[in-house]
Amino acid sequence: MRSPMIAAVLVASLASAAAQDYPTRPINIIVPAAAGGPTDTIARITAQAMSKHLGQQITIENAGGGGGTIGTGRVVRAEPDGYTLLIYHVGLSTAATLYRKLPYDTRAAFAAIGLVTDAPMTIVGRPDLEPNTLRELIAYLKAQPKTTFGNAGIGSAAHLCQMLFLSQVQAPVTPIPYRGTGPVMNDLIGKQIDMSCDQATNTTGPISGKQIKGYAVTTKARLRSLPDLPTADEAGLKGFELAVWHGVFAPQGTPAVIVQKLSAALQAALKDPDLVKRFNDINTEPMPEDRATPQAAQRMLTSEIDRWAPIIKASGEYAD
Ligand code: MLT
Repeated sequence: MRSPMIAAVLVASLASAAAQDYPTRPINIIVPAAAGGPTDTIARITAQAMSKHLGQQITIENAGGGGGTIGTGRVVRAEPDGYTLLIYHVGLSTAATLYRKLPYDTRAAFAAIGLVTDAPMTIVGRPDLEPNTLRELIAYLKAQPKTTFGNAGIGSAAHLCQMLFLSQVQAPVTPIPYRGTGPVMNDLIGKQIDMSCDQATNTTGPISGKQIKGYAVTTKARLRSLPDLPTADEAGLKGFELAVWHGVFAPQGTPAVIVQKLSAALQAALKDPDLVKRFNDINTEPMPEDRATPQAAQRMLTSEIDRWAPIIKASGEYAD
């Protein structure tokens, strides 16, 4: 009887010793979207700054597809030892409603670490698309139902924006799903598709370089480095607002001491001048300290499930 007890105590003390020494080897962050896209960009900048404060290498692994549920599922099933993490966004919450056969309970699947940023979105078109303003674009869509709209799969931020935009303008498009909006941007610049709605962190460069057309930004305020791009509200879509929160998450069961170390490293990273500059250069801001906490990230994850569920149910658009 005594040896299993001793074994259990031994394992527990070894685990807590390991947690105390964390991190002792490289950490892998899974990004459930294609390389080169907005979430990948945010993840790489954040990982670089966190690595400095943890004193340990952090690698990024892209696992796009399924509106982000493929990569997310990998983290949910990973060992809760702090060496496999996730950086993703609002898509975590919407998947809970859109994917009725999701193999995990989103509300309970993660040990939240903290929020990273809230990226504005932009409505954009290929460089030679006829309309020059948002009003002209809406009229064009009503006249051209076969207009193609690139998104990153059902539940992606680009898809959520598409869903909200179309429900407000009452015009049809032909959705074209990709594994991320990195490839969407390439095809928009390459005139293979007509339009999209993507995070300013991915469109700021192509818009200012006139490689694509910018029609509007989906936040109350205009973007720092694109002052001529009107807000959707100014451009005629009254009250149209959408930003994409991103956060860091670990598998449920990750020891509290490791969660605290990661959250402290994230908070330090978000104050890092290099990160702040790189975020600002792509028109987003680091989250303030009180939102870069495990509690704030878990609250956002669950409250956003409740916010999007009625919108998704009303759209009747499910992924399975
Ligand atoms: C990406 O990084 O590709 C995006 O976050 C995809 C999306 O959700 O729109």
